[in-house]
Amino acid sequence: MNEEEIPALRSKFLTEADLRAAAISGVETSLKSGGANSANDSAKCGLDGSAKIGGVLADTIKNKIINADLFEALPLLPDAFADLIIIDPPYNLSKNFGGLKFAGRSDAAYDEYLDSWFPAVCKKLKANGSLYICGDWKCSSALQRAVAKELAVMNRITWQREKGRGAKSNWKNAMEDIWFAVKNPDDYYFDVEAVMQKRKVLAPYTQDGKPKDWERAAAGNFRLTHPSNFWDDISVPFWSMPENTDHPTQKPEKLCAKLILASCPKGGLVFDPFLGSGTSAVAAKKLGRAFCGIEINQEYCLWAQKRLERAEDDPSIQGYADGVFWERNTLAEQARQGSREQR
Ligand SMILES: C[S@@+](CC[C@H](N)C(=O)[O-])C[C@H]1O[C@@H](n2cnc3c(N)ncnc32)[C@H](O)[C@@H]1O
Repeated sequence: MNEEEIPALRSKFLTEADLRAAAISGVETSLKSGGANSANDSAKCGLDGSAKIGGVLADTIKNKIINADLFEALPLLPDAFADLIIIDPPYNLSKNFGGLKFAGRSDAAYDEYLDSWFPAVCKKLKANGSLYICGDWKCSSALQRAVAKELAVMNRITWQREKGRGAKSNWKNAMEDIWFAVKNPDDYYFDVEAVMQKRKVLAPYTQDGKPKDWERAAAGNFRLTHPSNFWDDISVPFWSMPENTDHPTQKPEKLCAKLILASCPKGGLVFDPFLGSGTSAVAAKKLGRAFCGIEINQEYCLWAQKRLERAEDDPSIQGYADGVFWERNTLAEQARQGSREQR
């Protein structure tokens, strides 16, 4: 990143100090409108994250990256502001996030780690909101335990990542789980039509000479199918993809796009408490949703902010075109279809 760009990018995101200042001004607003009984009560309102502060914070954090420690920032945020929460936390592995070293630990200690922030994150979800949390095979059961304590578990998506390091005495790890949960199983948003998959037809069946449940198009023979909870159409970002950054565990925009289109209404807000390089926020912006993300590492926040700015000129998401999700390795067919439709 060019050094000269940094001050302008940094000026766009919030710090913990900004949040505290906004919380105090929220308290003042609340006091003026008679929303609290005493200065002490109202100060408590601001710091425990209650929404009694008149929505001031909800506006302050909309479409913002917050460069702060989650544990400091969370109590300053209002409750129930997110339509969708996407969480990609440190897995139970030793990993260096740009200097912040997360140490792999026992299952019990990882449960404790999740308990130290997950219930507080769930408070940020609207009453009809949805949440997804990612993990590998090793931490997946801990995630399920944590989620089930707070929300109704709806499904477990398995993402076949493809990329993974081979192991000499174990199976290569090439999958991740994404737990899907909602606050209220009787009232939540889910738009299956928005996440249809376009798959190549291997054995095109015809009836009276006409395609049965598939279409002949410029791009080839394809079928639109309902998405299942096994995702094998998304690659890990690699060096030649425009979305790629140096973040050690960057998620693909296509993956976040599926979660957002299915579970966040247009104009709704996506919250990501472990924002990293900003993938969920970038996908939200490209898809006409608002976002808010917390990330402790300033350099990652800068990368995320830069990606958000680029999204203004290029809102495309690799693998998602013409309102459908395409299979891996179909860029040529997507281009053929796109150029045909432009004619
Ligand atoms: C698994 S990564 C998320 C990657 C992200 N999904 C992306 O696409 O780039 C987890 C992120 O959480 C951040 N993190 C870890 N502990 C944190 C904390 N206490 N507060 C805020 N961020 C934290 C790390 O710096 C790291 O970037």
